[in-house]
Amino acid sequence: MTEPILQVTDLVKHYPVTRGVVFQRTIGHVRAVDGVTIELKAGETLGVVGESGCGKSTLSRVLMNLEKPTSGSVKYRGKEIFGLRGAELKKMRRQIQLVMQDPYTSLNPRMTVGDLIGEPFEIHPDVAPKRDRRGKVQELLEVVGLNPEHINRYPHQFSGGQRQRIGIARALALRPEIIVCDEPVSALDVSIQAQVMNLLGRLQKDFGLAYIFIAHDLSVVRHLSDRVAVMYLGKIVETGTEDQIYERPTHPYTQALLSAVPVPDPMSRQTKKIIRLVGDVPSPVNPPSGCRFRTRCWKAQEICATQEPELIDRAEDRHPSACHFAEAREIVVSHEAGTS
Ligand SMILES: Nc1ncnc2c1ncn2[C@@H]1O[C@H](COP(=O)(O)OP(=O)(O)OP(=O)(O)O)[C@@H](O)[C@H]1O
Ligand code: SF4
Ligand SMILES: [Mg+2]
Repeated sequence: MTEPILQVTDLVKHYPVTRGVVFQRTIGHVRAVDGVTIELKAGETLGVVGESGCGKSTLSRVLMNLEKPTSGSVKYRGKEIFGLRGAELKKMRRQIQLVMQDPYTSLNPRMTVGDLIGEPFEIHPDVAPKRDRRGKVQELLEVVGLNPEHINRYPHQFSGGQRQRIGIARALALRPEIIVCDEPVSALDVSIQAQVMNLLGRLQKDFGLAYIFIAHDLSVVRHLSDRVAVMYLGKIVETGTEDQIYERPTHPYTQALLSAVPVPDPMSRQTKKIIRLVGDVPSPVNPPSGCRFRTRCWKAQEICATQEPELIDRAEDRHPSACHFAEAREIVVSHEAGTS
């Protein structure tokens, strides 16, 4: 079996909540990421899916070493990334790149596309000496499906989808091994989303990239993901292969997310019953006791309030699920359920 290139173990990131201006007191903590364990193998895609505020972006910032964790470990090729300094830190930063959600705000409007895509070479001049940079940038523009002659244009002269392609070219410039894609298509029109997803798929094959692909909708990550981790209030609640998560999900939260995915076939649409998630995601400052999903779960029993379910292999399908009553269920669910 191939060794993972990235190993994230029991990762925790809490932000203090303070009160007072002169005498600041910590009155609690936002438990943005609360004990996440995931791994990524070379060349694969791990989809990370969950509702807004569940900690996806925080997880991506910490595992890229852009923020320090409260506790836990992230190892890149066997080395703890938070202990890296100097040349080793620079090397790690080169290998793990980020594509952000919003192509409008993530690119400096005063820089030309050539400068934006070539900027990483300023920090890593060994990858492209000055004389080669223009050529390299033009090559990158071509690779992501943009016209190399547009090298002197500014971001506002491109459409949203084209701007996201610029962001992808920039992430690709240093030939990284891993790209963390934090909702890279959610700000784009549906037709453009498909084009950008196809581009990411092609680049993965051509350059042997591994992706951590973050989304709030299970349908977005399906075709690209080898494995999927479903996140709720700072924790992974179910993880498995694409088949296990989409065909035989065992956690009620995954089942509810899947039941909300639109079905194109009218016949299936008629038989499909929706599991309605009632209420909002609880505050990560004060999450519910026991199972964090219990306030919205139609299967909740007494034990769910007192005992936190571990993320372990459960049910007949044997993939990790954090539910005391995990059981496989088809996606086109047979009855409507809810807690109201
Ligand atoms: N710097 C910070 N200081 C305090 N709280 C923060 C900070 N960054 C994030 N949070 C909080 O941590 C929680 C998780 O936020 P995060 O942005 O990681 O969620 P997300 O899953 O990426 O959401 P979205 O889908 O909306 O992008 C939220 O409650 C957020 O308010
Ligand atoms: S442990 Fe209980 S509350 Fe949590 S998902 Fe399972 S049934 Fe629902
Ligand atoms: Mg986010």
